[in-house]
Amino acid sequence: MRNDAQLAFYTCTPPCHSALMKTQVTIIGGGPSGLLLSQLLHVRGIDSVVLERKTKDYVLGRIRAGVLERGLLDLMREAGVADRMEAEGYPHDGTLISYGDEMFRVDFTKHTGHAVMVYGQTEVTRDLYAAREAAGGAIIYNVEDVVICDADSDTPYVTYTVDGKTARINCDFVAGCDGFHGVSRNTIPDNVRREYEKIYPFGWLGILSETPPVNHELIYANSERGFALCSMRNENLSRYYIQCSLSDSPSDWTDTAFWEELRRRIPADQAKKLVTGPSIEKSIAPLRSFVTEPMRWGRLFLCGDAAHIVPPTGAKGLNTAASDVHYLYNGLRDYYENDSTAGIDSYSAKALARVWKAERFSWWFSSLMHRYPDQSAFDHRIQVAELEFLRSNDAAQQAMAENYVGLPY
Ligand code: APR
Ligand code: PHB
Repeated sequence: MRNDAQLAFYTCTPPCHSALMKTQVTIIGGGPSGLLLSQLLHVRGIDSVVLERKTKDYVLGRIRAGVLERGLLDLMREAGVADRMEAEGYPHDGTLISYGDEMFRVDFTKHTGHAVMVYGQTEVTRDLYAAREAAGGAIIYNVEDVVICDADSDTPYVTYTVDGKTARINCDFVAGCDGFHGVSRNTIPDNVRREYEKIYPFGWLGILSETPPVNHELIYANSERGFALCSMRNENLSRYYIQCSLSDSPSDWTDTAFWEELRRRIPADQAKKLVTGPSIEKSIAPLRSFVTEPMRWGRLFLCGDAAHIVPPTGAKGLNTAASDVHYLYNGLRDYYENDSTAGIDSYSAKALARVWKAERFSWWFSSLMHRYPDQSAFDHRIQVAELEFLRSNDAAQQAMAENYVGLPY
């Protein structure tokens, strides 16, 4: 195995007074992308250091979607972090889609031979932290002022401050896993980077409540009052969303108002069995589609939300981050194990080809299920026609199921 950078830690002699480390891959961001990459590399004997701006508790306090594609399940198995997910996750063979008084089911297993796993992203992240800690993995929290230097050379390095002290990591590669608001993407020069964005004119108001889910499978609802989603984490923890105005704030919505609105947006037989209770989390997320190209600049590679965002309809955020990690991990293995740059050279093109398909699906499913403020009567009839086509056409259901369970890597 190629091993041109062994992890070492020492302190510079004055006058710089700064800590200097050396590793193979510096990973910016300790969200699910960064942690999964770090753990997969570790399994193959490749060293990394993760730099995280926040604390572990902060990262674990974020509530995100909870539907995992089979590609991510395989990566978790390969990373050795799948045990709790296999024991506590819920395989789902299909999903329900409602519009008006109609409801139909898309059967994933029948159409694709695969299911998805309902297991919260927060739990995936928790399992990854546990594995990195058990392996003595280097994660540095509360870092500030991260700067990626010389990424277009063969000797990149990263500087940062922690507790007011400056430090530097020399490395072979930098993985930018620092989410939409990180520094990695903007390290790629403006004249190289192209960005594509679509903002949706509504948000999702989500609540988590310690109540049994209304249904054992997810329900995506297009109602005349707007979109709603009934999801879950376990048999006594439900996650529900309703489309809301971007000018709303969570405090505008009492729990009672939320439950009443949700009831109005889902089929009457479901509304009747909805069990309500106090919310334990309530937040509003805007909806955005965003892609940056390329996803590689020199020895810097972007992964996950740092490079792309999808609206949450279809739960592709974490799953698309995972496919990036898959391509980058295999490219880095190719480099260290086979002395080949083929995998890292094709990283951006391969990752983006799949990213755009996930973008298309998330945009399509969002467009199908939401009410738009400027929607005409014609636009609405087209939505209904498309929903009726999906309800009655096997090929359309198969296309939806293939995308939902995840296109192959
Ligand atoms: N320096 C170090 N860490 C940073 C910096 C920075 N300058 N900027 C951001 N970070 C950290 C954030 O604190 C966060 O913990 O990077 C991490 C990025 O994590 P995520 O935003 O969760 O992104 P990612 O790991 O790509 O996960 C993708 O998670 O965010 C959801 O919707 C997203 O489901 C998708 C998945
Ligand atoms: C969730 O459970 O939070 C969830 C599920 C499916 C989605 C989005 C969010 O499409």
